[in-house]
Amino acid sequence: MINPKLKNKTVLITGSNTGIGKHITLSFAEQGANIIIHFLGEKPQIEESFSLEINFSGKEGAIEIKDAIIKDGGNAICVEADLMDSNHIPKLFDDSERVFERVDILVNNAAHCELPDNIFEVTAGNIDRHFNVNTRAAVLLISEFVKRKKRHRDSWGRIINISTDAAQNFANQISYGASKAAMEAFTRSIACEVGHLGITVNTVAPGPVQTGWMTPELVEQVIPNIPLGRIGRPKDIADVVVFLASEQAGWLTGQVIKVSGGHNL
Ligand SMILES: NC(=O)c1ccc[n+]([C@@H]2O[C@H](COP(=O)([O-])OP(=O)(O)OC[C@H]3O[C@@H](n4cnc5c(N)ncnc54)[C@H](OP(=O)(O)O)[C@@H]3O)[C@@H](O)[C@H]2O)c1
Repeated sequence: MINPKLKNKTVLITGSNTGIGKHITLSFAEQGANIIIHFLGEKPQIEESFSLEINFSGKEGAIEIKDAIIKDGGNAICVEADLMDSNHIPKLFDDSERVFERVDILVNNAAHCELPDNIFEVTAGNIDRHFNVNTRAAVLLISEFVKRKKRHRDSWGRIINISTDAAQNFANQISYGASKAAMEAFTRSIACEVGHLGITVNTVAPGPVQTGWMTPELVEQVIPNIPLGRIGRPKDIADVVVFLASEQAGWLTGQVIKVSGGHNL
């Protein structure tokens, strides 16, 4: 039987006010972990994109989750940061450590995703925004996490990144896909660099997960490409993330794991 042993560990989950991040948060809370719910405070203004696929939930979503966790007897705080701005990253850790002393587990879940994102319409801004959040911020968050671990002489840590099962080939989402492919590459490199600190680094690459963005028509269209015959649920992803943070996953590092019902193998 798996006993993750996460009671009193502190976990920072980026973009956890909504979607998959919200369910990752609730799953860690069920294990008795201290929760840091990160959210983006203001809706980004991007004039050149005709469709911004961000389900903006802001502070309200974060507070709702925090209140639910506390009502159930858990510990949780909300912290705000715009990951487009690298200056916000040290403050995110300072705000977290002021309450919980240190962060044990980092989940890089927040992502920027906008359309159009194809080779005919791509702009410098489109590329920058995807890479600034999905790649640059994720690396800087990991850097801040491991430097603080070293300073605290802490010998246990978990880093879990969230990519997509289509990272290696994502027609019509080329910047988004490439920014996640970079995440998969740095997962392996950083795993080699930080193993001696007792820190594991892994990536979960979800297939299509229903977080409200899939219409019934799209679901019908996608299901034939999923060997296990159904769309993903946020809990499918959250369960694997919690496993990767567990004691039992202590000798597992540098891996990219598709959690996709067999989609995009
Ligand atoms: N859902 C799927 O089918 C699917 C499939 C493959 C991979 N994924 C990956 O799974 C993860 C979660 O996906 P999801 O569907 O739950 O996404 P989502 O509902 O769009 O949530 C994305 C989160 O990232 C935050 N975020 C976006 N830009 C940010 C910025 N500049 N600074 C700080 N936070 C920012 C959002 O904040 P606000 O809500 O406040 O804007 C939100 O909390 C992402 O990494 C995504 O790439 C999802």
